[in-house]
Amino acid sequence: MILDLIYYGNPLLRERSFDIKEITDEVRQLSLDMIETMDAHNGIGLAAIQVGKKLRLIVIRPEIETTDGEFTLGEPLIFINPKITKPSIETDILSEGCLSIPKVHAEVQRPKSIWVEYLNFDGKVVIEEVQAFKAREIMHENDHLNGVLFIDRILAHKRKEIAPFLKEIKEKYN
Ligand code: CO
Repeated sequence: MILDLIYYGNPLLRERSFDIKEITDEVRQLSLDMIETMDAHNGIGLAAIQVGKKLRLIVIRPEIETTDGEFTLGEPLIFINPKITKPSIETDILSEGCLSIPKVHAEVQRPKSIWVEYLNFDGKVVIEEVQAFKAREIMHENDHLNGVLFIDRILAHKRKEIAPFLKEIKEKYN
């Protein structure tokens, strides 16, 4: 089922989400609905709070480099109660967008690699190193769980530049 998104200006986007205590059928269904919603909007990542659920649950479609150097999207991945550790000192600056802030894009500086610990769909603990754009996707979605948006991490002059667009989104969707 495609769920309704919430948009910039909705105070829920500034709240901290709660740990999932038990992976119930409801949580599993929510994960699948989030993937359907992400795909329906041509997104590459979604946090539960973006569909109004204050749970530490994110989904992404990882960007994968093919053998001929092209980029494609992989199968959807589900991260329950993700925790990011060991961010690399080395950083990258790349453009990001967000389904809750339509049509706004800006460059964000983030670590190149991280480790992430989470529960998978079956409730198993997974700990893995993640690099490049996939790491960025996880960091962007993980920020949502703490009420942080990518526009909080951009340069002041760029923030000023997008201010009118943010105002427009606030008025249009809320
Ligand atoms: Co986002």
